[in-house]
Amino acid sequence: MISWGIKTSKNMKKQSIYLRKVTQSDIKLIFEWANDKDARNNSFKTKEITWAEHETWFENTLKDLKTRHYILCYNGNDIGQIRIKIEEENQGKISYSIDKAYRGLGFGKIILQLCENALLEEFKDFYLYADVKKSNIASQVIFKTLGYNESIENDIFKYNKKININK
Ligand SMILES: CC(C)(COP(=O)(O)OP(=O)(O)OC[C@H]1O[C@@H](n2cnc3c(N)ncnc32)[C@H](O)[C@@H]1OP(=O)(O)O)[C@@H](O)C(=O)NCCC(=O)NCCS
Repeated sequence: MISWGIKTSKNMKKQSIYLRKVTQSDIKLIFEWANDKDARNNSFKTKEITWAEHETWFENTLKDLKTRHYILCYNGNDIGQIRIKIEEENQGKISYSIDKAYRGLGFGKIILQLCENALLEEFKDFYLYADVKKSNIASQVIFKTLGYNESIENDIFKYNKKININK
């Protein structure tokens, strides 16, 4: 059985799938994932990212009080990342990816669910949204399955959901 949740010192040993916070030592891993071919193609900025650009971005993101950035760990491996950029008090934009070796296995849904749980440890309610390209069917399926509202504007699939601690 897979147990899942947010890593805490008490229960981390029992868990084989959980989110942990991104730290300084993840700089290279996040760089590799950011430049993954599909990740770039599915992004709205498709240009390859240079190491210099990444270093500046990563340092800023790490200290940004309005960003939550997590890595999904599965059986001791880092297999994906999810980032929420908080744009207003209790609303934020989702950006996420799964390592290509672990795609097609349902981890996209799990990372999003765990991230919702993590946000609800901090906020009573939170409004999440994401923009997805028309070609990114996997991501569209994930958001729909998790109950996000969908609208389409200029071929961009827009998703939003209000999460609440009591639901
Ligand atoms: C998008 C991403 C996170 C999806 O994660 P994943 O865990 O590999 O997703 P899956 O391949 O398991 O697909 C999710 C669902 O979409 C379905 N799906 C995938 N491709 C599909 C297709 N072409 N047509 C119909 N359904 C499709 C899967 O069957 C699955 O449904 P299920 O859970 O009911 O079985 C991953 O592909 C990724 O990291 N891509 C690059 C970065 C990216 O696109 N990030 C998101 C930006 S919005």
